[in-house]
Amino acid sequence: MSIGYKVHVFVCENERPEDHHRGSCARRGGPQIRRWFKEAMQREGLVQDTRVNKSGCLAHCESGPIVVIYPQGIWYRPKTKEDVDEIVGGLKEGKVVERLLLDHYWEGSE
Ligand code: FES
Repeated sequence: MSIGYKVHVFVCENERPEDHHRGSCARRGGPQIRRWFKEAMQREGLVQDTRVNKSGCLAHCESGPIVVIYPQGIWYRPKTKEDVDEIVGGLKEGKVVERLLLDHYWEGSE
C-alpha cells in the first residue's frame, strides 16, 4: 500500500479584500471549483490516487481561479463545472485540456 497520492490537484482559494487591485481566486469561484473537482474525482473513481487540496496564492491572481496539478505541472484556469469535468476526464485518460491551460490564456489566444 502506498502512503501517498500519485496526483495532487491544488486549487487556489486565497482571499483578498473585495477592492484589492489583484483580486483573488476565492472571490472568483475557487471554493466552488474545488468542490466540483472533488465530486468529479469521486464520480470518475480517481480518489484512491488523486488528492484535491486548497492552496494559497499561486501568483496568477488576475487569471483565477487557478489550479495546478502535480507531478505533471499542468496549470489550468477553469471557470465552470463543465471545465472541471473536462480536466478530470483528461486526467483519467492522461490528456491535457489545451483550451483551459493558463499558458494558452497568457499567449493571448483567447
Ligand atoms: S489569489 Fe489565486 S493565484 Fe493569487
